[in-house]
Amino acid sequence: MKKVTLIPGDGIGKEISQATLEVLAAAKAPLDFDVVMAGQEAYEKEGAYLPQRLLDSLDESRLALKGPVMTPIGQGFSSINVQLRKKYDLYCNFRPIKAPGPLPLRYEGVNLAIFRENTEDLYAGLEEEVSPEEARSIKVITRQASQRIARAAYDYALRSGRKKVTIVTKANIMKKTDGLFLRACQEVAQDYPSIKTETLLVDNMAMQLVLHPETFDVILTENLYGDILSDLAAGLIGGLGLVPGANLGRDMAIFESVHGTAPDIAGRDMANPTAMLLSACLLLDHIDQKDLAQKIRRALYQVLSDKKNYTQDLGGSLGTRAFTKEVIQCLERMD
Ligand code: NAI
Repeated sequence: MKKVTLIPGDGIGKEISQATLEVLAAAKAPLDFDVVMAGQEAYEKEGAYLPQRLLDSLDESRLALKGPVMTPIGQGFSSINVQLRKKYDLYCNFRPIKAPGPLPLRYEGVNLAIFRENTEDLYAGLEEEVSPEEARSIKVITRQASQRIARAAYDYALRSGRKKVTIVTKANIMKKTDGLFLRACQEVAQDYPSIKTETLLVDNMAMQLVLHPETFDVILTENLYGDILSDLAAGLIGGLGLVPGANLGRDMAIFESVHGTAPDIAGRDMANPTAMLLSACLLLDHIDQKDLAQKIRRALYQVLSDKKNYTQDLGGSLGTRAFTKEVIQCLERMD
């Protein structure tokens, strides 16, 4: 059994974590979960957004499945996610975006892999209030961090038979920071001659993704652009309820959905647990349980191939619990 730290999280986090645990149990995943709180609930019960017990568990397991957590907005408190990514140097944020099953969408053939640099950029937390009327934020880009995310993207492209990497920046305006990111990525690209490299400015990229998403393959970009483009890309395949993610470091990995705590639907049995289930599948891939991950994906895709199983975000009416039951029954039929 592999030890995994499970952070249920806030808002819909508990509901989708429960659903994920039930599906993993039905699939007989060899995972031993240490359930630890973080975020708002942890703050209310233990007086800390990131309790020491969580850090101890992560130090031991080096592997986590995480629900979304609430960070107070605009109160001078650094985001819990950003803190975790920095503390454990989880430099690579990987977000595969592919419609699970034949969803009724305007876009066909979307199959993107976004590689977002996860430790620098405007997320460095270097903000200052110059006066009550003026505030500043410093953007940090280094060659080392840019090259290691580029290498992660190109290695993945090579490993998974992808053809093209699109480097996305705003280097025409931020010539020094984005210019450095672009040059560093282009230097790495030279080591991968079989992979086509193209460069696009982020504003054009946003439009091209809406017009022709099927023409893109791997997207390599900075922290903020990656955050925004992955929500945009999630919208192309049916929404945030469907997109998983991985935060990868050298010897630590935290898997979590792209979406947040969805306070508008929390506690109402309305959340789509697919994104967290697919994040659990990425975790299983990571620990070489690829067959099990594929089995869970097949069950999910089968359930999502029938419109009557759609949750509300997909235009259906099934609740979180009923959807989870369908996935479990499907897994049981596969045995
Ligand atoms: P959000 O992702 O929570 O919600 C955006 C919209 O998508 C909402 O309408 C929500 O109902 C819907 N949605 C999201 N996930 C869904 C799911 N699984 N099933 C069905 N519908 C879903 O983004 P928002 O509202 O900007 O952020 C809310 C809170 O989440 C904030 O406190 C923010 O800090 C936090 N957050 C946490 C993240 C994390 O822990 N990784 C990531 C993003 C936001």
